[in-house]
Amino acid sequence: MHVYGADYYPEHWSQSMWDEHIKIMKEYGIEWVRIGEFDWALIEPIDGVFDFTILDRAVDKLRDKGIKIIFGTPTATPPAWLVKKYPEILPMDRSGRVREPGSRRHYTPNSPIFRQYAMRLVGEYVQHYADAADMWQVDNEFGCHGTKFSFTENDRKAFIEWLKKRYGTLENLNAAWGTIFWSQTYDDWDEIVFPLNTPTFENPHQMLDIHRFMSDSTIDFMNAQIEIIRKYSDKPITHNFMVDFMDLDYKKMARYIDIVSWDNYVATDDYDPLRQSANHVMMRSLKKSPFLVMEQQPGRVNWRQRNENYPGEYLGMWTKQAYVDGALGVMVFRFDQIRFGAEQYHGGLLDYASRPTKRLVEFSKAREETCGVVNPIRRVAIYFDYENEWIHRINHINRDFRYWDSVVEIYKAVRRIGSNVDFVFSDDDLEEYDVLIVPYAFKIEKTFVNKIKDFKGPVYMTCMSGLKDEKNWIVENAPEGLTEEFGIEVVDFGAIDDKEMLLNNVPHRARYWQDEVELNGAKVVSAFVDGTPALTLNTSSGKERFYVTSVLDENTWIEILHDKLPLRIVGSDVQFAEDSDNMYILNLRNSPNVIYLNSQKLKLEPFELRKVIK
Ligand code: GAL
Repeated sequence: MHVYGADYYPEHWSQSMWDEHIKIMKEYGIEWVRIGEFDWALIEPIDGVFDFTILDRAVDKLRDKGIKIIFGTPTATPPAWLVKKYPEILPMDRSGRVREPGSRRHYTPNSPIFRQYAMRLVGEYVQHYADAADMWQVDNEFGCHGTKFSFTENDRKAFIEWLKKRYGTLENLNAAWGTIFWSQTYDDWDEIVFPLNTPTFENPHQMLDIHRFMSDSTIDFMNAQIEIIRKYSDKPITHNFMVDFMDLDYKKMARYIDIVSWDNYVATDDYDPLRQSANHVMMRSLKKSPFLVMEQQPGRVNWRQRNENYPGEYLGMWTKQAYVDGALGVMVFRFDQIRFGAEQYHGGLLDYASRPTKRLVEFSKAREETCGVVNPIRRVAIYFDYENEWIHRINHINRDFRYWDSVVEIYKAVRRIGSNVDFVFSDDDLEEYDVLIVPYAFKIEKTFVNKIKDFKGPVYMTCMSGLKDEKNWIVENAPEGLTEEFGIEVVDFGAIDDKEMLLNNVPHRARYWQDEVELNGAKVVSAFVDGTPALTLNTSSGKERFYVTSVLDENTWIEILHDKLPLRIVGSDVQFAEDSDNMYILNLRNSPNVIYLNSQKLKLEPFELRKVIK
């Protein structure tokens, strides 16, 4: 499957414009469109009255010209009549305030009446478009705008049911949550409330369950839609995930969908290519298969503090980057650029007068260069767990530390050396990798503890890992189950600001956290200037087991890892990948660049993608 196209909103236009739009699509190779994902009010203008006339006309025209269609189920935008009739469908934020209609995503999936209406809509929509659909997208960006969380009475009731399933008895729950602390013991399930406006720290075990429950609520809502779609259609189902987004357990969600897709928007004020790449690779890693970019930032967006207008060439480069990282295609948000509505400042592939832009030209060129799907050889596995992100957020030793940001530093180091990465999760097989890194992983699933022990190549584990259990309690002996394997025990820990360590006797900086370790067989490879261990190595099992006692940056990780990974590229601002047949080098500069690949000098044009046959 090869999916190149754009997100299109025919209902935003007078119908006389559609032929012109479709003509431009054909001219520039827009082969796919995604439509419909915000059209609830259009297709159900009155309670129970479904009218597909307008969308049908657009669908007929698109199909007539051979354009493939991804239908988004329109549940993210409950219509005004529904909110008026049932205001209880609205979500509530942590301060106890209702999140009002007037934009989008104003529903809680735990409102039974909302579920009833949403599923009726999805049933009608899917039956109506079952023959026309080439793919389905469920809802739109679950959890966006902070909507993972909702604290209404319906949410509380659903939470209590979820807890009953998890713990069976209140006795178990009280024990798991350690409710003896601060007199939080429960005698009746109905006493359990969300700790919203608390004077101070909430119960960290309850908080982890709230994160799990809210994520599960979304997954349950998604699955109810998936069940309906599968009843009427055998076309692939996806959901569009988000950049740097950790509120929902994407790994769990990915199990239920056929294709992972995500919305590739620039995550940082200045474009940081390897950070975007880490996101691509996370998406590929979720199902260990090619993914789709469902919304590619076209140039300017409308939601940043300062909305920069990236020149058209950037869209070409972003498209090629997705390809090098294993995408099966790229859809641009959006095809048409409109003069009205909340996103009137957002760029598109057309301009405000519906004329093709440089962006469209560059996208079209990039599409021609990116046929097929790259299946990169991955040598390095980096362990990741969405629940660990939540554990990091709940309680702190150092509030400045960010789990994903620090994982990205390691990712960048590996890619800069020239190797490729898979993020791995506890149920993944580790056979194919040369090196395993387990960073900042508070909770390591038991199955994965055994995989670490069995791993034949070197393992690099860092501070914080194996310090907590699935209840979010601190363990007695850290890293749990792995003290012998690494030949150390963490006997204490605390926050640091910025501390000098020596690696090969060259100074480097460590930050955020430092473990105090007792050496039980491991030797010290690197130390802080005060003499405390920074990096230890245990080889007593015949395998290399490194333990890093602090949080390190990209350059320090390069220093640590480079003797285990061959340096493939000499040069900067390039992204490198290789599959069984080719090497792919993408110049990330919008200017010429000179690099050396295996000692061969390559001159690259601005944003050039060079394929070298092996
Ligand atoms: C995405 C969303 C789109 C659109 C876009 C604007 O988050 O899915 O509907 O709002 O952002 O950049």
